[in-house]
Amino acid sequence: MIVLVGFMGAGKTTVGRLLAERLGIPFVDVDRLIEIRECCSISQIFAERGEETFRRIEHETVTETLNGPDAVVALGGGAVEHPGTLLVLNSAFVVYLEVEFDEAVLRIGHDNDRPMMSNPFLSEIYRRRLSSYSRVSNLTIQTGGRGPEQIVGDIISKITTAT
Ligand code: S3P
Repeated sequence: MIVLVGFMGAGKTTVGRLLAERLGIPFVDVDRLIEIRECCSISQIFAERGEETFRRIEHETVTETLNGPDAVVALGGGAVEHPGTLLVLNSAFVVYLEVEFDEAVLRIGHDNDRPMMSNPFLSEIYRRRLSSYSRVSNLTIQTGGRGPEQIVGDIISKITTAT
């Protein structure tokens, strides 16, 4: 099981899909899985049921996914905010895709389906999460100025030496 973590805009979905293709295993995007299961968008869940409920659903979905068949799994940027999710991640090989705050904001721009982007404390949230990302990860990959192909190549060569 390979899990990708990192802030919004780190490229978890793009890199994850490509990495899974290269490794010949399925790709699971936890955000999309939540939307399918709940039959509504992430922003609807935030607006109608609140962030705490979203984190609980996210935790349950991550736990189930990690107990399932081998896959490349992309987590939402805030999944590491849930202590239970951090624990579950101990059993996986976790890759942290690192992105600078300004770069992440530039990459995402204004996105209606990313409710956290309108949070006035976004830079504090970014800083708070950094230690969780590094604590939980087995491998850190810089994404600044690099395309998905290069990043995936880097992950595959490092996984081969790390495992
Ligand atoms: C969130 C990130 C989003 C999504 C939700 C909350 C966050 O995922 O899970 O909007 O708290 O950072 P991405 O990191 O895939 O954008």
